[in-house]
Amino acid sequence: MYYSDELIAEVRSRVDIVSVLSRFLSLQKKGANYVCCCPFHNEKTPSFSVNQTRQIYKCFGCGVGGNVITFLQKYENMTFSEAMEYLAPLAGVTLPERDNSEEAKMRTNKKLRLYEANKHAANFFFRVLWDEKYGGPGMEYLKKRGLTDETIKHFSLGYAPTNARGVIDYCRKQGVTDQEMIDAGIAAFSEKNGLYCKFWNRVIFPIQDDRGKVLGFGGRVMGDGEPKYLNSQETDIFNKRRNLYGFNFAKASRKDRFILCEGYMDVISLHQAGFTEAVASLGTAFTSEQARILQRYSPNVYLSYDSDGAGTKAAMRAIEILRQYKVTGRIINMKPYKDPDEFIKGLGAEEFEKRMENAEDSLLFQVHTTEKNFNTEDYAEKTKFHHEIAQFLAQMEDPLERDNYLEAVSKEYGINKEHLKEAVGKAALALADKREWEEARTTGPKKAGKADYMMQNEQLLLTFLLEEPTLYAQIRQYISEEDFSTELYRDVAKTVFESLREGKTPDPAAIISHYEDPDDQSNVCAVFTTQIEDLSGKEEKERAIADILYKIKKNSYEMHAKTRGSSMEDINKDLQEKQELEKLKKIVIRL
Ligand code: UTP
Ligand code: MN
Repeated sequence: MYYSDELIAEVRSRVDIVSVLSRFLSLQKKGANYVCCCPFHNEKTPSFSVNQTRQIYKCFGCGVGGNVITFLQKYENMTFSEAMEYLAPLAGVTLPERDNSEEAKMRTNKKLRLYEANKHAANFFFRVLWDEKYGGPGMEYLKKRGLTDETIKHFSLGYAPTNARGVIDYCRKQGVTDQEMIDAGIAAFSEKNGLYCKFWNRVIFPIQDDRGKVLGFGGRVMGDGEPKYLNSQETDIFNKRRNLYGFNFAKASRKDRFILCEGYMDVISLHQAGFTEAVASLGTAFTSEQARILQRYSPNVYLSYDSDGAGTKAAMRAIEILRQYKVTGRIINMKPYKDPDEFIKGLGAEEFEKRMENAEDSLLFQVHTTEKNFNTEDYAEKTKFHHEIAQFLAQMEDPLERDNYLEAVSKEYGINKEHLKEAVGKAALALADKREWEEARTTGPKKAGKADYMMQNEQLLLTFLLEEPTLYAQIRQYISEEDFSTELYRDVAKTVFESLREGKTPDPAAIISHYEDPDDQSNVCAVFTTQIEDLSGKEEKERAIADILYKIKKNSYEMHAKTRGSSMEDINKDLQEKQELEKLKKIVIRL
């Protein structure tokens, strides 16, 4: 970080989160808070809430939360320093030169330069496409593929002419250096040709991020030729795992569903036909990062992959990834066409919509696809196939959902339901073992339901302390940060207790700033925004606090007990803690 904690705190405390967020959102006052529909996921009733006293925001729908700085990072894609630079003038604070981290400064600068380079190159390709003298072949190709002027402009499509130096001369004139063109993936250098454009006689598909900035390019050969699509390599700004083609428009379409397809042209054809919720991965297989992005906006994804073997295989993989993120995948049948682009041309938008309505459930799609690998006339193979089905069903965590599928599948294939159920149970156990083992290996034992429950109690206690700082004096002899169940909460509790000991009210927005990971930020935010149920009277509240305190302490002692052995010393410690717990049961809180 380039700035001192004091300076960050000063900038943050001199701006008001409500007035800054109002520049981007239309907030409405509701009770003590300000609310609006969450800008980070798709919703129709507002669950995004800004707390002016605590200077934090929290969405009770998708869980994101943070302070004014993390908002700018998330919403405006700013880096931390960019957010500081944005806020400083509003705060009336002058930032020092960031000379302590030249390297970091260079890095940010370099990214900005790459965006610039791409922007200029995209402008050039776009202008050439519309140029009567040079753009002919590109325009003719796109028209032949059925794209309207409007669509071509909407997607900022372009044409890289046969003269491989045009874009280079143009970019140089705009102040882009040769190295920047190379780093952005626009140009390459060879002894023979000097600096030349990598895209040559191709129509150009600029790939934009969710805010419309150009990250890189895909270039399609016009007609036959290899490779069919040439894509920019990954660069400091172009991460193929984390972006989706068409997402900037699909996000804005707010349709509560996405159509996931394989190609740029599929996305464009679908948008032109009114399906503005279509997106595609970037010349690579669908990734978990992309699933996570989609999941934030909608739990419904329709897959519109190629109907050939490769497409089916890719769809099978994508379904699994989506399922991990609790996204419901449905598969659109595109037959007899190869892909959605050809389907739309052949049968039109209305028919496509009908196919969406009849899209196949992802699990049944998996079962039907797997069936093709077995010769079900053969009894041994048939049995193997039925065990495969059990494997799929075992992945369903929701017992009701699992039962429904069991019913459907056993009917369809004439399998005895009880026997299938048994096989699913066995497969589920094996799966659980495997998962537990994998998780223990990567992240340590997974927190169970109990852990979530404890975290809720801990959140409640900290929220109470924020509302009633005087409470701390009454409970400090009983509780310390060590009693909290996760490292993150121990850390937060420590900071909160420290402020309270110094007689200061803890500052949630400041505490959030200690964490760089967005998930940590949201979790910390949850600590301070726990909704305390309407406890009607003072006494009720007092009892609730005593109860929570007892539960946290009990859990903490239980965790200690687990680590102890059977030595005299250990047994004594256990006993001592049990007695303390008995005392705590009788504690009386006075507000
Ligand atoms: P397809 O080969 O299915 O092409 O590639 P398509 O989308 O139908 O393209 P058109 O209709 O022939 O123009 C699907 C996607 O795979 C990536 C591209 O992102 C493409 O959109 N791809 C394909 C490449 O990156 N390179 C290639 O050579 C081919
Ligand atoms: Mn195609």
